[in-house]
Amino acid sequence: MQIITAIEDMQALSSRLLSEKKNIGLVPTMGALHEGHLGLVRRSKDENDFTVVSIFVNPSQFGPNEDFNEYPRDTEGDLDKLSPCKVDAVFIPGADEMYPEGFSTSINIGNIGTILCGASRPGHFNGVATVVAKLFNIVMPGRAYFGQKDFQQTVVIGKLVRELDFGVDIVVCPTVRGPDGLAMSSRNGYLSDEERKAAPILYKALKFGEELIVSNGIVNAVLIKEEMRKLIHTEPLAAADYVEIVTLGRLEGVEKIELPVAICIAVKIGKTRLIDNIVVEKKQVEDVR
Ligand code: PAJ
Repeated sequence: MQIITAIEDMQALSSRLLSEKKNIGLVPTMGALHEGHLGLVRRSKDENDFTVVSIFVNPSQFGPNEDFNEYPRDTEGDLDKLSPCKVDAVFIPGADEMYPEGFSTSINIGNIGTILCGASRPGHFNGVATVVAKLFNIVMPGRAYFGQKDFQQTVVIGKLVRELDFGVDIVVCPTVRGPDGLAMSSRNGYLSDEERKAAPILYKALKFGEELIVSNGIVNAVLIKEEMRKLIHTEPLAAADYVEIVTLGRLEGVEKIELPVAICIAVKIGKTRLIDNIVVEKKQVEDVR
């Protein structure tokens, strides 16, 4: 497993691989790796000749009052997890390498970055789009792997790739969950024992919303969102930031459910903000009826 820290070295390696007609798969991460990340890594290993995992806690996607400084960093532990997956290269640039003195370019992804998570995290998705664009130019992958866990992020990256003609296939992989339904997240480590017990309320609320649509045939999105909020607030440590039901492509809020839709939520458990989502497909309703 090669460890690369310089942009120039990564580009030289990728150029050589491309000249040898090798397919490169990229898995962008911010480290603190868990099974969710490793699912993306395995998929890339299956589908490409050469897999690069990037680890970079990207300052430009954190707001001034967010957890950039506290965000978990464990490069040694991450490398120990990647090595058995037989990852070919790990790209770990420093912040000065990615954003040298005087760096000022940024991608503005537009409206899609100001709704849902973007409403409470201004600038977040522009930071994500900018760093992912840089990673694409540095690693030059044919495919890049993202988790459905960050549903809005997958839509933002899809738009970035289409509109700026990156020619990278975006592969979206299913959300990996713990046995109690809690989606794996590097931020779960912030939770106290008591908060950790409360956190599965996110998945319970999503499954409840899905049930109202699929089994109860409710089409009034306002009603479903209200019922989900009520369920979330039966958990004293939980406070809903948003509960939305949106279209898959543009993330537009729907009033009347027409499948498929994504149910997207952000919930604070104590001080930790967690996000999760579920896609409800037409087929699920057909299977029930
Ligand atoms: P990070 O939060 O480290 O996540 C890296 C990738 O892992 C993302 O595509 C994310 O959706 C995926 N992932 C995280 N938890 C998952 C889970 N439980 N199941 C499946 N996939 C999961 O997302 C970022 O980093 C950054 O914004 C990044 C894209 C690297 C840009 O800085």
